Amino acid sequence: MSQTDSDPTLTPNTLAPIAPVAGVVLGAGLGTRMKSTRPKVLHEIAGRAMINHVLAALGTLNPARQVVVVGPGMEEAIGRAVAPVPAVVQPDRLGTADAVKAARAELSDITDGTVFILFGDTPFIRPDTLRAMAHAREDGAAVVVLGFRAADPTGYGRLIVDEVGTLTRIVEHRDASEAERAIDLCNAGVMAISADRLFDLVDRVGNDNAKGEYYLTDVIALARGDGAQCAVIEAAEGELLGVDSKVDLADAEARWQRARRHHAMAEEGAILTDPESVWFSWDTVLGQDVTVGQNTVFGPGVTVEAGAVIKPFCHLEGAHVRAGAEVGPYARLRPGADIGQAARIGNFVEVKNAHFADGAKANHLSYIGDADVGAGANIGAGTITCNYDGYLKHKTIIGPKAFIGSNSALVAPVEIGAGAIIGAGSTITQNVEADALAVSRGKQSTLKGAGKRVRDTKAAEKARRDAERG
Ligand code: UD1
Ligand code: MG
Repeated sequence: MSQTDSDPTLTPNTLAPIAPVAGVVLGAGLGTRMKSTRPKVLHEIAGRAMINHVLAALGTLNPARQVVVVGPGMEEAIGRAVAPVPAVVQPDRLGTADAVKAARAELSDITDGTVFILFGDTPFIRPDTLRAMAHAREDGAAVVVLGFRAADPTGYGRLIVDEVGTLTRIVEHRDASEAERAIDLCNAGVMAISADRLFDLVDRVGNDNAKGEYYLTDVIALARGDGAQCAVIEAAEGELLGVDSKVDLADAEARWQRARRHHAMAEEGAILTDPESVWFSWDTVLGQDVTVGQNTVFGPGVTVEAGAVIKPFCHLEGAHVRAGAEVGPYARLRPGADIGQAARIGNFVEVKNAHFADGAKANHLSYIGDADVGAGANIGAGTITCNYDGYLKHKTIIGPKAFIGSNSALVAPVEIGAGAIIGAGSTITQNVEADALAVSRGKQSTLKGAGKRVRDTKAAEKARRDAERG
């Protein structure tokens, strides 16, 4: 799945910017507080790397070019996650302005319009906010900064505005005076910069500050010095939530899930019996009047069509559940599960890479993998498709209206014809033609009175031993 696919929680692009847009997402930070060997921006929310959430928001503006800036050694992992967006390396972590310079070659043909600079660890940035910034830029500002009122501004850059309310500069917390630190209007880190000025501004940024870093925030004072306008767009603090630790990550996930549950009910028209216990992926799609029971988890790539019922305690990923089908309770649908209309997958049934045609059923305790199950077929309790021989996977085909008796093993590759019946407990290794009845198990033999004889002998033996022991 590419990162440009739309996230259902992102609002569609209603008022597109007029000028072309490009974007640079910074992600070279070490993210030490994340305590991880994985680059910080690859940590996932709703099954999607944070940096891909940011790129998806940017993607709604149809950018002509996107670039991701990463630290040395991260290019392979991040490059794979963001492809086809290129990942370029910032050789030394010299600050946010220096990071932008790493994107210079990729942006060489971007000479007009707006270049966005975003942070890869701020996954909730909204398309509407980016659009508002693009419009403010097109209205004549050379640089538009995203600001917010921080409940606790400690650590953030402060936005300094003059008497008439125009942005004059940004001062980082460490470099700020007492009076400046009292300002609660903070820099979120997102900027929209006029493409024709971007590198001219960035190249003039120095590093004479508390951290000895090249601060991107210095472009405001530089642009003002050139006589250009700078503007602030304000957004809510929650939208700009940064993720620095695994505690932040869990908070961000909870926040995303809350919004997604609301979307499921309010926009998709699904019934969530206990919303708090249902977990979605970024790309889950629910149809109208779908019911989702308690404690259900949607992994990536799930579509549930209108009116289908997912009973409690199910785990689904890469699955398509068609209209009116019933799944669960306690079912597991793995990638490639395609459950037809009004089909039924019951408790403790695992389905992988298998198509159930309309009305087919596997109600209890089964593994159905690499299979094609015909319309109206009935798979009895405990049926296993033996799809793997230790080296290769093989396919099982079950015809329409076939009946597979309980506790059968279907050793693939094997084909059961339409309307055929498999006797319970069979191990089927050869194809069964349509309408045939196949049974493959030891013949039953019943010895009259033998049960009683065994019981009598055993009881006598036990009595003798008990007597010996006294
Ligand atoms: C930055 C802003 C600050 C703002 C805050 C919001 C600057 C100088 N300061 O501070 O005004 O209030 O974000 O969260 O811009 N990065 C690189 N290469 C570098 C340094 C940073 O790619 O050399 C990336 C990081 O991966 C991160 C982003 O830039 O995605 C921000 O870096 P960070 O160190 O978190 O900046 P802050 O000190 O938080
Ligand atoms: Mg930061």
